[in-house]
Amino acid sequence: MRIESPRYTERFGSVRINDVQKVLELDSGRAKELPLQENIAVEKIEEDAIKDLEEKMAIVIPVKDEKLKLFEGVVSGIPHECLIIVVSNSQRKRVDRFKMEQDALKQFCHFTRREALIVHQKDPNLAKALADAGYNSILGEDGLIRNGKAEGMVAAMFIAMIAKKDYVGFIDADNYFPGAVWEYVKCYAAGFSMAKSPYSMVRVLWRYKPKISAGMYFKKWGRVSETTNRCMNSLISNRTGFETEIIKTGNAGEHAMSLRLAEILTYASGYAVEPQELMSIFEGFGGVLTMAHPTAAKHGIEIFQTETRNPHLHEEKGGQHLTVEMLLPGLGTIYHSPLCEEETKQVIVNELLQQDAIESEGEPPAPCFIKPLKTIDVKKFTEAMSEQMESYSALEEHK
Ligand code: GDD
Ligand code: MG
Repeated sequence: MRIESPRYTERFGSVRINDVQKVLELDSGRAKELPLQENIAVEKIEEDAIKDLEEKMAIVIPVKDEKLKLFEGVVSGIPHECLIIVVSNSQRKRVDRFKMEQDALKQFCHFTRREALIVHQKDPNLAKALADAGYNSILGEDGLIRNGKAEGMVAAMFIAMIAKKDYVGFIDADNYFPGAVWEYVKCYAAGFSMAKSPYSMVRVLWRYKPKISAGMYFKKWGRVSETTNRCMNSLISNRTGFETEIIKTGNAGEHAMSLRLAEILTYASGYAVEPQELMSIFEGFGGVLTMAHPTAAKHGIEIFQTETRNPHLHEEKGGQHLTVEMLLPGLGTIYHSPLCEEETKQVIVNELLQQDAIESEGEPPAPCFIKPLKTIDVKKFTEAMSEQMESYSALEEHK
């Protein structure tokens, strides 16, 4: 893969935020021992380097009642070396959609000779292993893991930890293009291969997100993303004293992290998870509040934002979904952050009023936080899970 070098970086305490890097070539050809000419503006990430990283990476697919054909397509786009972890919150009553996903994944693993893990979000064994190891942050009153995308992601990160992976990446299950899925994972690997810190994150930005109206229109920004980015940039600008537009991936669902970074972040429920990851980094390492983790602060936190080539086409979920489930909780993570000053609060309120998302005098809801993974008793959890892991395997021969 050939990708622009990180040419412009902004610093916020010990956080390094790289400006958007565009993918230039999906396939950059064979490794050559002696490059014909040095081109410092462009990075060529060799196939082998990408494969080495993919071997260390788990790709998590959170899924809830998506079309099976889309789920199958997404799975087929994930490079062979990655471990697939599916966390499903799909219905099991009337039609057992989870069973359908499980069967599809088993068939895929059988014919492709690869390993994948699949677990239902309401699996009582997983919830018990978490509770016994002292981690209740994603559990509901019934003792099971709560609903929500973030809750599924956190459960999957614990599984990636047990599977001894070094990196974890997320890909939604409702993507129409397996080729886009493939490219996201390549971008994750390319980002990690450029990272100088073991505490790194890669967030994907789409070149286009097509909308179908009279014809196909290749739109670049969704309204939610635009608003979240603006508010987050306002917060950074006010804190550093220099106006910035550096954040372009505030809501990026498609993103990846080194597990060392993933373990120390505080998350937020549901769709607030992606903006909250950034807020947790800014709070913990921005240098304004106490540093959250001295070793990570020493290395610095590195954020890459990569613009992919494939357009992003997914299921349109309409209705109140975008405003109530995504915009409000996402902005809530910024508004209620101890870093958020009056000016940014006002920007957020104005945005929400303009979009009819709150009443006058209203404010976005406070996030429901999820504790860092590292607060679990790893030894207890590993012991409890050693018996479970096999039952999550989709490769029959491994059972
Ligand atoms: N395990 C699990 N549990 N998965 C869930 C749940 C849940 O409770 N709720 C939703 N999902 C799955 C969906 O099936 C899908 O695969 C993925 O999580 C994302 O959910 P969507 O409902 O498709 O979200 P979206 O398309 O509106 O928004 C996506 O993009 C945004 C912008 O990049 C999400 O990834 C957002 O988190 C992201 O901010
Ligand atoms: Mg979607």
